[in-house]
Amino acid sequence: MKHTEKPKVLIMIFGATGDLANRKLFPSLYQLYEKNQLSEHFVVIGVARRALTNEQFQEKVKKSIGNANGKNSKLDEFTSHFYYHSHDVSDSNSYMVLNDLANGFDQQYGTEGNRLFYLAMAPEFFGTIAVHLKQDGLTDVKGFKRLIIEKPFGRDLDSAKELNQQIRTAFDEEDIYRIDHYLGKEMVQNIEVIRFANAIFEPLWNNRYISNIQITSSEVLGVEERGRYYETSGALRDMVQNHILQIVALLAMEPPIKLEPREIRSEKVKVLRALRPIQGNKVHKYFIRGQYGAGKINGEAIPAYRNEPMVDPNSNTETFVAGRLLIDNFRWAGVPFYIRTGKRMRTKSTKIVIQFKDIPMNLYYNAEQQLNPNLLVIHVQPEEGITLHLNAKKTGQGINATPVKLSYANSGINGYNTPESYERLLYDCMHGDATNFTHWDEVALSWNFVDNISHVWESSIAHFPNYESGTVGPKESDILLAKDGYYWWPISELEVESNCN
Ligand code: BG6
Repeated sequence: MKHTEKPKVLIMIFGATGDLANRKLFPSLYQLYEKNQLSEHFVVIGVARRALTNEQFQEKVKKSIGNANGKNSKLDEFTSHFYYHSHDVSDSNSYMVLNDLANGFDQQYGTEGNRLFYLAMAPEFFGTIAVHLKQDGLTDVKGFKRLIIEKPFGRDLDSAKELNQQIRTAFDEEDIYRIDHYLGKEMVQNIEVIRFANAIFEPLWNNRYISNIQITSSEVLGVEERGRYYETSGALRDMVQNHILQIVALLAMEPPIKLEPREIRSEKVKVLRALRPIQGNKVHKYFIRGQYGAGKINGEAIPAYRNEPMVDPNSNTETFVAGRLLIDNFRWAGVPFYIRTGKRMRTKSTKIVIQFKDIPMNLYYNAEQQLNPNLLVIHVQPEEGITLHLNAKKTGQGINATPVKLSYANSGINGYNTPESYERLLYDCMHGDATNFTHWDEVALSWNFVDNISHVWESSIAHFPNYESGTVGPKESDILLAKDGYYWWPISELEVESNCN
């Protein structure tokens, strides 16, 4: 969707002294400002518990941007749009003071009563804040009122429903923007374009030509300071319920009739509805969990998960998940989607591999050389690009086949600078474009799928730790694919190259 006009808006960031605001939101807003995508008619009220003056807050904002960007010529001008309110989330008076402040800024900055409420804080307060926003009059404006809400959106279907009911008392579904920052990533957004703008892929994009799809999102980092949250979450809730299932939905959905949020989301919902539930004994068969033990990454000794701060020394929480999903519809019947994600793995990498079926007869077979299957690899991060793996003639005498790669790397194009996910998502929300945010139906269906697995895992003790830090996860994850005659394409062999071989 194209956005032409610069938004006029008052943004309230709840959790303005927190990590997310610091690392992502302020720098992203600044990027938009620098690119002249924000008009003079914007103002930000940072809301958090601790007492700060406007000047102190502006200094914090400057510092966060100074860290994130090299040059920052418009910084003073930009931060003059920032104000601070010290807040008590459960006190109506505090909301009323905030509202008076906002009404004043609305006049001063000509924001036409448009308000964007960003909840960038601990999820236990989401419901309370949403209810107060309505009850204390902050949503009573003549412009738009939109709520951006960070994950986790509940920790299972029941808690997500409860949270949804609370926020729905104050906001309509179309005004709720549930962030999944993977949907702001360049190459995740590119999935639709690759699929629907290329005549050579769409006809092959089905169970007649694709043998399996592999999605890997591996991280080198551990849980850092987030042990307390992570203990209640684990990799299944933290990564699979949202990011990975969203990628699955984008890869598997039918072409929407138009590139409009409602149409795209409804196609994604159909995929999630078609996911075959994995329940009871099947969970152990098709889903693998892991937890990292001590190890070495880049020569540095890494402690086991159970020794991380705020983690139970006998923790049963998984830091790795691999699974096999099936989508029961005409297009995908019989094609496994393998997913895996984990912390403290060998490399930081998110990649999607679409493996095509073998050709019916291999004319080039000989003892030395088998043909490789064709692969389409979508490199999501850290490098961004696409690689198509083909077979071509080996240079020289005879007719032998050898694998070649056709690669496109984003970074190779004129120093193209990919916007940060949050920059795009904030901008979309200011323009009322919800395409890259998750609809409630998607959230509910994803929880429904994931709950079946977590119920089984929570009621059985795992043999953890079962993979060393700095590896590719537990061996059971390889066995999962081997049982179907496949293997994970090694990340190191899939690297994107910026020209044709
Ligand atoms: C977040 C998870 O949603 O995504 C984190 O809570 C994880 O645990 C992060 O580290 C990964 O994001 P990215 O963009 O670095 O792949």
